[in-house]
Amino acid sequence: MERKANIFVIAAPEISNILHEEIRALGFGNTTAHRLGVQLYGSLADCMYLNLNLRTANKVLWEAGRFRASTPDQLYQKAFQLTWEDEISLDGYFNIDSYVRVESITDTRFANLKLKDAIVDRFVKKQGKRPNTGPEKDKARIYMHWSDQECILYYDTSGAPIAKHGYRKMPGKAPMLESLAAAVLLESKWDQKAPLVNPMCGSGTLAIEAALLASNTAPGIFRSNFGFMHLASFNQDQWERMVEVAKKRVKPVTATILASDLSALAIQTAKANAEFAGMDKYIQFEECDFRESTVPKEPGVVILNPEYGERLGEVEQLTDTYKQIGDWFKQKCQGYKGYIFTGNRELAKNIGLRTKRKIPFYNGSIECRLLEYELYAGSKKDK
Ligand SMILES: C[S@@+](CC[C@H](N)C(=O)[O-])C[C@H]1O[C@@H](n2cnc3c(N)ncnc32)[C@H](O)[C@@H]1O
Repeated sequence: MERKANIFVIAAPEISNILHEEIRALGFGNTTAHRLGVQLYGSLADCMYLNLNLRTANKVLWEAGRFRASTPDQLYQKAFQLTWEDEISLDGYFNIDSYVRVESITDTRFANLKLKDAIVDRFVKKQGKRPNTGPEKDKARIYMHWSDQECILYYDTSGAPIAKHGYRKMPGKAPMLESLAAAVLLESKWDQKAPLVNPMCGSGTLAIEAALLASNTAPGIFRSNFGFMHLASFNQDQWERMVEVAKKRVKPVTATILASDLSALAIQTAKANAEFAGMDKYIQFEECDFRESTVPKEPGVVILNPEYGERLGEVEQLTDTYKQIGDWFKQKCQGYKGYIFTGNRELAKNIGLRTKRKIPFYNGSIECRLLEYELYAGSKKDK
């Protein structure tokens, strides 16, 4: 019978509600959103489906077992009882990663070593041989979350994080993580029909994610390796069928998607990335200052991710840029919903328009905001 267990889908801080909606829209019930992810229950096939389709997730973890433990020896004894041979092949290879906050452990590597010993000793006892282990991260992966006295062990079915969607071959300057760009778009409630204008597009992440969303392209189709592929119950035919179904669901994009940037290199990078994702046919690229970007008459959504400025000189220069964005929004984007994604709240004040919403996000460890503006004539604060 197919094994079912708890699934924990990890998200970046502030994204779990968006991820929760995404998971529910894929047809999963009995889901619970936590601060750093969403909990549900299912099979390895469910994990495969989530890995293939989720846009805003970081990892899909599938529970191997949980227990109470407060010392390394208790960890060893309890982990030894779990039936690892169900999913780890004798001739396979696995790697262990962990988050450990336990008084008796000062070095996480020691906890990892104890867990590794428990697993391989079990193999030796039951089968006389053991799988290989080590630092390679592109095979089977086990993740331990051990906090206070609760230890949860998971198969990491993603392997490398699925927050990267695999089409970005050229990074560009300060690129947004793909899952973050997808979350920003989902939060904007863009209807995938109205125009989407993305000046300052950099490596093109927001525009490419918009095209992937509107064309119903599953982000996982760009990847050839996932953690689940190295588990014993992985069924290659089932996976290929899943990918085929996902490919059949792809539809043409009808919305106008415009991406522009002042930098010729950025446009070249964005075009190459869009081409790799197969989305270049849906995006119109322009090399220009944001104020010269084409804004279709029919109103839609305009999103900018300007630099935040880390050094003083940059901040002074950017003060002007942020002011100009506010003016351009007001003069050229009337009827649009405007969004600015920034990690610098002081700079954002220079936009000078009344924000409708300020949605918190994290870009890595930087606290950011997605600022939403309703752009109708005369929306300047001082009017
Ligand atoms: C933070 S990056 C955008 C990163 C992008 N979201 C990505 O995922 O790659 C900001 C971009 O704004 C562009 N830029 C700066 N000033 C500009 C201006 N006045 N007009 C148009 N683009 C500008 C830069 O060339 C840079 O590519």
